Amino acid sequence: MPWKEKLIIALDVSDPDYALELVDKFGDQIEIYKVGLELYTSAGPKIIEEIHKRKKRVFLDLKFHDIPNTVLKASVAAARLGVFMFNVHASGGLDMMKRCREAVTEVCLKENLRRPRIFGITVLTSLSEEILKQELGIQHGLNAHVRHLSGLALKAGLDGVVASGHEVSKIKHHCGESFLIITPGIRPSWQPPDDQMRTMTPKQAIKEGADYIVMGRSILNHTDPLKAIELISVEMLTA
Ligand code: C5P
Repeated sequence: MPWKEKLIIALDVSDPDYALELVDKFGDQIEIYKVGLELYTSAGPKIIEEIHKRKKRVFLDLKFHDIPNTVLKASVAAARLGVFMFNVHASGGLDMMKRCREAVTEVCLKENLRRPRIFGITVLTSLSEEILKQELGIQHGLNAHVRHLSGLALKAGLDGVVASGHEVSKIKHHCGESFLIITPGIRPSWQPPDDQMRTMTPKQAIKEGADYIVMGRSILNHTDPLKAIELISVEMLTA
């Protein structure tokens, strides 16, 4: 895959006009945009339509986590919006993920829609092993938990998972090379980690085998975002 199809920009802003200004500004440089909780909650599905009008693909990052019936209905709605990919929390369980995948596949076949890729969130990149143990009571360690949730997502028929760069090679080993991995928590050398804990540079993440990397603040908050993209693309090409 060329680097342009691997770099996803997180449109983590609340003003839809500003979001579209960014899409227009990045032009041919970026193909996939992530619409997350902030932008979707303030702008609604219209923003997805607008991004599609600009011939770009959308990763709808709403991290569905609810009872199976609610998640499958929201997932069908996401498929009807024509998004390229969306995600659910793997910790919602096997039945939730399986029924989501089945319902989406069925609707897409029936309505002749392109089936979106469905990803399971493993452990958020803002969580550490210590938080997992002390706050969430998960004692078997971060790597074991990520491996377990990835295996569950694979069993449910999902296309891949969202995980930090540090877990990519272990997941590929456990679930197979074709099981896709989206890696957030990416920080180029010039950027502090903010609230992310398990960070990696773009070059390292691609080297580890990440299929997609998601980047937000280190591009959007850069004084020259286009320059930042150029520097990142060079890093990715040399990985
Ligand atoms: O600004 P930054 O590059 O840290 O943005 C990362 C993006 O990826 C955010 O939109 C965040 O919601 C998302 N994300 C994440 N960790 C996950 C899944 C998604 O940071 N496990």
